[in-house]
Amino acid sequence: MRKKIVAGNWKMNLDYQTGVSLFSEIVNMVKDEVIGQQEVVVCSPAVHLYSLGQLAHSATNVSIGAQNIYQAESGAFTGEISASQVKSVGADYVILGHSERRAYFGETDEVLAEKTNVALKHQLTPIFCIGETKEERESGQFFDVIKSQLEKGLFHLSESDFTKIVLAYEPVWAIGTGLTASPEQAQEVHAFIRETLANQYNQALADSTSILYGGSCNPTNAPDLFSQPDIDGGLIGGASLKSRDFTDIVKVFNS
Ligand code: PGA
Repeated sequence: MRKKIVAGNWKMNLDYQTGVSLFSEIVNMVKDEVIGQQEVVVCSPAVHLYSLGQLAHSATNVSIGAQNIYQAESGAFTGEISASQVKSVGADYVILGHSERRAYFGETDEVLAEKTNVALKHQLTPIFCIGETKEERESGQFFDVIKSQLEKGLFHLSESDFTKIVLAYEPVWAIGTGLTASPEQAQEVHAFIRETLANQYNQALADSTSILYGGSCNPTNAPDLFSQPDIDGGLIGGASLKSRDFTDIVKVFNS
């Protein structure tokens, strides 16, 4: 069985004190209310990671992740953060290829392939984001866009490396807009992604890859989305900034 995962993406929100208290609340709520094998991940701003790592230590199924890393191992890259630095403060995950980074920071598929390699080298699990824009959805190109993001960003990986990847389908038009993809729209793309993995690698790898949905996911729509056969959890932006909402989304997998 593939892993069920609910990951929060705090983006550039919450100062240090607020972030640490929110994380403590989440750790406590998860401890008290979550039953099951689902994994909980919080991807915070990098400056919070060390402290969250200390708190996560005592929580069995809450992990932390970064929202980005640089593609080089180390060196003269002022302002950037490396995979080994992120790993050394206790993170196990890193979001790669979020649409905000593709759109605002010019991250290309080629750069994302390099970031994936360095993440895996340092035992960070990439949560690799793919998804189409509104125009690409409306013109019907979305399957091609998603296939190309997979091919260029990830299909250089060996089968054994690919098994360490978590995917997140995030239609750009649904991120932060309140416009969630319908469960049917999301399921259609998740099934397409799984079929693409089966064609490139094999069915067993496709069946064991966790594919998360992201884009205006909240406690109200999560049950329908997560009950789709190919949706294995969520990457949660806005709703991950409230401990109650985030924990309620995690608890969808309780039953
Ligand atoms: P949202 O963001 O839940 O606020 O739409 C999701 C994301 O960007 O990962």
